[in-house]
Amino acid sequence: MLISLAGTITRMLNEITEGSTRLLVAEKGTLGKTDKGREKKAPVFYNPRMKINRDVCCAFVRTLDDITFADTLAGSGAKGIRVAVEAGHKVHLNDGSMHAFDLIKKNAKLNKVKVDVSNEDANLFLVKNKFDFIDIDPFGTPVPFLDNAVMAAKKDGYLGVTATDTAPLCGVYPKACFRKYGAKPLHSEFCHEVGLRILLGYVARTAAKYKRGLKCLLSHSTEHYFRLYVSLSTGKQKADASLREIGYVYYCRKCLHREYKKGFLPEEGVCKCKNPFEVAGPLWLGKIKDDPVLKSVIKGSYYLKSPKTERLLNTILEEIDAPFYFDVHKICKNKKINSPPFDEIVEALLEEGYSVSRTHFCKTGIKTDAPLNELLPLLFA
Ligand SMILES: C[S@@+](CC[C@H](N)C(=O)[O-])C[C@H]1O[C@@H](n2cnc3c(N)ncnc32)[C@H](O)[C@@H]1O
Ligand SMILES: [Zn+2]
Repeated sequence: MLISLAGTITRMLNEITEGSTRLLVAEKGTLGKTDKGREKKAPVFYNPRMKINRDVCCAFVRTLDDITFADTLAGSGAKGIRVAVEAGHKVHLNDGSMHAFDLIKKNAKLNKVKVDVSNEDANLFLVKNKFDFIDIDPFGTPVPFLDNAVMAAKKDGYLGVTATDTAPLCGVYPKACFRKYGAKPLHSEFCHEVGLRILLGYVARTAAKYKRGLKCLLSHSTEHYFRLYVSLSTGKQKADASLREIGYVYYCRKCLHREYKKGFLPEEGVCKCKNPFEVAGPLWLGKIKDDPVLKSVIKGSYYLKSPKTERLLNTILEEIDAPFYFDVHKICKNKKINSPPFDEIVEALLEEGYSVSRTHFCKTGIKTDAPLNELLPLLFA
């Protein structure tokens, strides 16, 4: 379809359906190829791989009554328009790009929903408005928008935060992680959970500056991004209480043993095998989901008829909510043994009286309250 974007530019857009929402999107390659044969960048951002992020968001906000929802960095408007159509909330979509602004209005019209649309820098937009739910879905890190998002969230409000800068958070670029999040990451076999908890710790520390406490209702690590749903409370005590969930993880790269401890400051320490610990943090050591909330999100997700989304949410529901997962394959590789079938490990741990679950963080991972020195003999057996 040929239509005019931003009044002057004529672009080719495709109509797709996501959830129960129709969307005009400029997919990568829509504008043809560059001289070097690469697909030209779309004039307005839309990433089909983020569908599950938007699915979960719609299912989450369907559990909330009568809220105002801000899609602060809206791109094509995929998330905000879906929230208006599929959850029926009052939505404001904002994007700094003029082309995005124009496309969002077209997408609202296509779905016959009334939404507010603006074309401002996200921080300016947040300074001027207040909402019940603020979604931050940027390119890369959400850090530049978090202070204003906390201040723009109404009493008992919510934040939805996406971070696609998983490489710094997972310890591939430790200096970048320290610069942005003021935290030391850990490149290890459980780096995805460490990364998500560094992000969550950072959001809690940001909220605390404005005397706001935080509870994490749902979080996931999917493909190339982390996603958090947190509720905010108000008051010094609430802020102090959530800061008490912050601490550090202590890791021995030699024997793979790990420990964690809450506290403002990291401690020095040596592993039982005499190797000095590597320390990572500060990071969030509290809960990263709320099961009653998650159960109603799962109920709210059935209309999507998306087995992938349901599988993700159910895996999270069954997951033991305690740090940190063990990647059985990586541990076995490190110890130069073949990894036994998953069910055998689970059975053996249950027989020994430990709790055990799969984890959405890693296909070959488990969560258990058994320490590594109890788990290892079972892997060798
Ligand atoms: C990752 S995309 C958003 C995707 C969208 N939430 C979705 O679900 O499809 C990020 C968007 O942020 C916009 N953006 C980047 N920096 C901005 C800023 N400082 N203020 C406002 N918009 C900004 C870009 O134009 C882009 O459309
Ligand atoms: Zn050790």
